[in-house]
Formats: sequence, C-alpha cells, structure tokens
Amino acid sequence: MLSLLSVASEAFPFVKTGGLGEVVGALPAALAREGIATTTMLPGYPKVMDALRDGTIVHSYDFLHGAPAHLLAGRAGALEVLVLDAPHLFTRPGNPYVAPDGNDWPDNAQRFAALGIAAADAARGAVTGFAPDIVHAHDWQAALAIALLHYSAGRRPGTVMTVHNLAFQGKFARDLLPSLGLPPHAFSHDGVEYYGDIGFLKAGLALADRITTVSPTYAAEIRSTEHGMGLDGVLRHRAGVLSGILNGIDTEIWDPATDAHLVAPYDARRLGRRATNRAALQARLGLDADAGALLVGVVSRLTWQKGMDLLPEALPALLAMGGQLALLGSGDFVLEEALAAAATANPGRIAVTIGYDETLAHQIQGGVDALLVPSRFEPCGLTQLCALRYGAVPVVARSGGLADTVIDANEMAMAAETGTGVVFAPGSVEALGFALERVAAMRRNTREWLQLQRRGMKTDVSWTRPAQQYAALFHALAAERIG
Ligand code: ADP
Ligand code: GLC
Repeated sequence: MLSLLSVASEAFPFVKTGGLGEVVGALPAALAREGIATTTMLPGYPKVMDALRDGTIVHSYDFLHGAPAHLLAGRAGALEVLVLDAPHLFTRPGNPYVAPDGNDWPDNAQRFAALGIAAADAARGAVTGFAPDIVHAHDWQAALAIALLHYSAGRRPGTVMTVHNLAFQGKFARDLLPSLGLPPHAFSHDGVEYYGDIGFLKAGLALADRITTVSPTYAAEIRSTEHGMGLDGVLRHRAGVLSGILNGIDTEIWDPATDAHLVAPYDARRLGRRATNRAALQARLGLDADAGALLVGVVSRLTWQKGMDLLPEALPALLAMGGQLALLGSGDFVLEEALAAAATANPGRIAVTIGYDETLAHQIQGGVDALLVPSRFEPCGLTQLCALRYGAVPVVARSGGLADTVIDANEMAMAAETGTGVVFAPGSVEALGFALERVAAMRRNTREWLQLQRRGMKTDVSWTRPAQQYAALFHALAAERIG
C-alpha cells in the first residue's frame, strides 16, 4: 500500500466552502480501491474537532504561530486524519477563511503556514510510525508544506501540488519569511518569492515534483496570460510536470434512485417521475405550477468567476420564452442583491434563494430541466457532473472542466449519439441567451430530449477513473524517488 498525506484546508462533511472540500472528502475512499492509503491533515476547526474520534496526541509544539499546538491522529467520518489542534488559529466559527466582518482573517498567513509546517513535520517523520511516500497539497493553504520539504534536509517524500482554483493564491508580505521556517535563500524566483512578496501557491507550483489541476483543459488554459492570473510564467516553466485530472462526484450521495431529498426518486428508466420533483420544487420556491415552461436551475457561488453577473442581463431572454429560473447560491453582496431584485420583479417566474442548502441543491438537480453553469473560468466544476447524473441537461460555458465534461449536442453529436448538453462561449450575455433558446428548442423535441437526459445519466461521473489517474501518478512518482 502506498501511503499518502493529503493536506487541505477543508473536507466534506466537516467543512466545505465549495468543490475543494468535496474532492478532499471523497478522493481517499476512491484511492483506497487503487491501493493507496490516505491520511488527511486538516486544521482543527470546531467542526473537525467535534467529528474527531479516538484522537490521540502524536506530536506537540510548545509554540506554533502564537501558542502551543498539538497534532492529533484519529478518524473523522470516513477519513483517517491528522488534525492540527491549535485553538488560537482555528477555534473560530463559520467560514474557514473569512471573519464575521466579511474580510479574510488577518492572520490567514500564519494559520495556513502552521498547517504547512505541521504537514511537513509529519511528512519528515515527526509522527512515530507514519512515513508517507507522497505529500499531496491542495491549493495555497497547503502549499507551504512543499516549500518546507524542499528546503529541509532529511526524509523527503514525493510532492504533488493540486490547483483547484488559481484565483486564490495566498500572497503575503515578505517580512513574514523568518516566521515560516524557511531559509533566507528560499526568497528567490525559483522559490517562494512572488512579485516581491511571498506566494504560498507560487512556492508549491515552483517546487512540487508534480503539479495537477482538476481538468485537462484548465491545465492548458492556466499556461496562458489570459487565464494564468500572474502564475502562467511559472506554469509554462513547469509544463513538463503539469497535468489535468478531472474531478468525480460521490455517486452514493448523488444518486437520484436513492436520494432522500427528493419527493420522487427515479432512474433513467423512470424519468417520468422527475415531473413530481419538478412540481414539488416549483411549489417550494413559489414558482408557477407550469408544466410546459423550461425550468432552468443554478446552484453556485455568486461570483464573477461563475458568470453570475451575466445572469440578470440574460433573464429577459429566458422570460421571453416563458422560462423559469430556480437559483440557489450565495456570495458577492451586489450579485445577491441584483438577483434577489430580479426575483421580486418576476414573482412566479424567478426564484432566488440566497444561502447554502444541501437539500435544495439536490431538489434543484432532481427537478429542473436544465442546469446552467455560465462560468468565465471553471477549473473543473462539480454541479454539471451532478446535473448529468440527475438527468438535468447541463448548459455550460466552454471553459476548463465544463468543456471537458459536457459534450455539446450539436447536430453531428446527436447523430453520433454522443451529445449530453449545451456548450456556449463564456463571458457573453448574448451567447448565454442563444444557449437558452437552443435548450428550449431541444426540449420541444421530446424524443431527443429524453435521449439527451439518458446519455447524461450514463456518463461516468464517479471517482473511479480520476482515482486511477491519481494512483498512476503517485505510483510513478514514488517509483522514481526510490530510483
Ligand atoms: P466551486 O468549488 O468553484 O464553488 P464546484 O462546482 O466545484 O464549484 O463545487 C461547488 C459545490 O458546492 C457543488 O457540489 C455545489 O452543489 C455546492 N454548492 C454551491 N453553492 C451551494 C449552495 N448555495 N447550497 C448548496 N450547495 C452549494
Ligand atoms: C474549485 C473550482 C472548481 C472545482 C473545485 C474542486 O473550487 O472553482 O471548478 O471543481 O475547486 O476541484
């Protein structure tokens, strides 16, 4: 069994702000089937501490960024975990990154430096009996572990940096350097230096043995100045070790045949039952009980990345064709306000739920005709995978993982029986409007629409193939290091 230390700032079901948490929570079980034993290192947020079972202290710090701290080994849910119990850093309510005043916690550098330090120590043998072959760091919050391992002597496992979203980079003032446990020469172009400051993600990208991101298209996109967000230079330099592995979803949690959130569970042979879910969703959200209307769903963070600012402008096109919108999301206040205003102006046609609601997310997937994901950029995206599995036809922007997971149902694709959704150019209200018109027209052809839904439902969105790809990468890296 290969031993893997996965390091991350969130993991479902304890703490999740988006897809990152889902991936970190689900990948270990899939990797176990590929002969890889994962230990997941997480910050000791209140919800993680509550979930921890059989926690025992396996390493202690007299002083870690402000106060004593401990590493606890145990289990949390289905995960084997190492938890960094540092109350001065992590005993805080709510969102893991953002303070109640809406700003990032001012000590995020210290909080996630501590996570990196603990991960590097564990990887180097601080925990008796634990000697991982590979350290897998997720996003900037975990990236410092890779730099610390690079610059230290002694045991060093293989390192893999996975980018879930290049927009979040962990850039901090350079005077932090002495507190990070890094030597002065780490502050260099091929180290942690990033435009005169310190870049946690930059360091991980510069120094990891392998870099992965969550779709092949995003792996290519981020090497361009347009999508590289300042890191494209490093990524071009490291293109030889960069690859894309798609995300999967937990096909037990997301299974329309057994989904307890749905009024009428269903499968590809009983798609008629979706009408019951659709009616229940319309009733719950106060939408008109109109069986003929194209019902479009959105489940998303409300941000510029997700193209949510395009939505208010595209709504007239949807309304003009008699369509309805069921939106669930939260995020930028301005976008929340704009979408809520659209709902107020169009009662019975547009329903906007601001907040986070797992049940409603499932009910939207199980009830809407089409699920819209108009992202400007999308490393992978999980909601379109859920939509495929639920027979909600995905309508997605041609970007990153959206482009890699949805096959546009153009005439040729329909003739070849391969289309699974509608794909349109990102960043344009007009293209979004046309895409909605296309969906409405496709839905009028009942036979083809059913084919489209069934093909989507047959698409393999599980973790099986991605886990095989990660396993191949981890095994190859481990073999290389043994020599
Ligand atoms: P990102 O991580 O960029 O936000 P993903 O599509 O990878 O996007 O993952 C988002 C996950 O969070 C999906 O599983 C989606 O269903 C879920 N999600 C997003 N917003 C909400 C919400 N308001 N309520 C419930 N689930 C949500
Ligand atoms: C990020 C990306 C999203 C991806 C998720 C999990 O949040 O925005 O596209 O699916 O990470 O990898």
